[in-house]
Amino acid sequence: MALVTSTEMFKKAYKGGYAVGAFNVNNMEIVQGITEACQEEKAPVILQVSKGARAYANHTYLVKLVEAAVINCPDIPVVLHLDHGPDFETCKACIDGGFTSVMIDGSHLSFKENIEVTKKVVEYAHDHGVVVEGELGTLAGIEDEVVVEAGHESYTKPEEVEEFVTKTGVDSLAIAIGTSHGAYKFTPAQCTVNEQGILVPPALRFDILEEICKILPDFPIVLHGSSSVPQEYVKMVNAFGGKMPNAIGVPEEQLRQAAKLAVCKINIDSDLRLAMTGTIRKFFAEHPDKFDPREYLKPARANIKEIVRHKLINVLGCAGKA
Ligand code: G3H
Ligand code: 13P
Ligand code: ZN
Repeated sequence: MALVTSTEMFKKAYKGGYAVGAFNVNNMEIVQGITEACQEEKAPVILQVSKGARAYANHTYLVKLVEAAVINCPDIPVVLHLDHGPDFETCKACIDGGFTSVMIDGSHLSFKENIEVTKKVVEYAHDHGVVVEGELGTLAGIEDEVVVEAGHESYTKPEEVEEFVTKTGVDSLAIAIGTSHGAYKFTPAQCTVNEQGILVPPALRFDILEEICKILPDFPIVLHGSSSVPQEYVKMVNAFGGKMPNAIGVPEEQLRQAAKLAVCKINIDSDLRLAMTGTIRKFFAEHPDKFDPREYLKPARANIKEIVRHKLINVLGCAGKA
């Protein structure tokens, strides 16, 4: 199957009460780990590339890696998406350069400016058969060089969504309901402690999501910052020389719940980074004599594959939906 846009994927996901996983890719092992899991589980997938990924790996390398994955995974639809497009020029370069979907992230701009830049991207994208994700509301956390401190995030205002979607013509909308970028989504002070002594983060604002669903029926909603920061990998990182105290993510049950509602795309990056880094740290600690990159990248790739498989089956609900 060739690269596709997310239009049909989102229609099926909305009706079927599941979400498609959008995983960030930066190198060959990450592309392979993700797409091998999706091919085996017959799951549609969105491979997304950030501004930082394009700077690190080069646009053409990333496009060619994704094209290779499409050839190797003939049974599943694959979208190539620009994550957090910072401006019109970057979106245009990706539209001209083989992407099937772009995000224009005007969430830091005024409402009026966000509409202006998003509309401009939509017009260019739609003329070229590419779909567009816009964003309203700001998440806490780190993405590229932008850092939003906890407490300075702002939830999406439901009263703005209809005007934004109508005036811009976007195909999907990312909203802020309490998720956050990176591995430190919540401070321990924001959490409660359950009977097993485990920190439980504050619940996502399902009331806002439900209000938005009522205002925009059948419209695909996107959740960024949706890693769950698996504690097994945080422990692995810390046990083998890392220092990631108080890394806390979004509970998986809440994401499963969101996927049953209007959320059709769930962005996951940090969990894959943790799996890769934890695995490599452990490998080095256990094999101090090894120096062949293939030897440590192989188990890292295998663990990325397994964590993606887990997400497809237990969190997103999209296994078997290709
Ligand atoms: O939300 C951002 C993604 O996790 C991509 O991160 O900008 O470090 O590539 P990056
Ligand atoms: P995480 O940092 O929670 O993985 O979020 C990734 C993301 O939103 C990419 O756009
Ligand atoms: Zn994001």
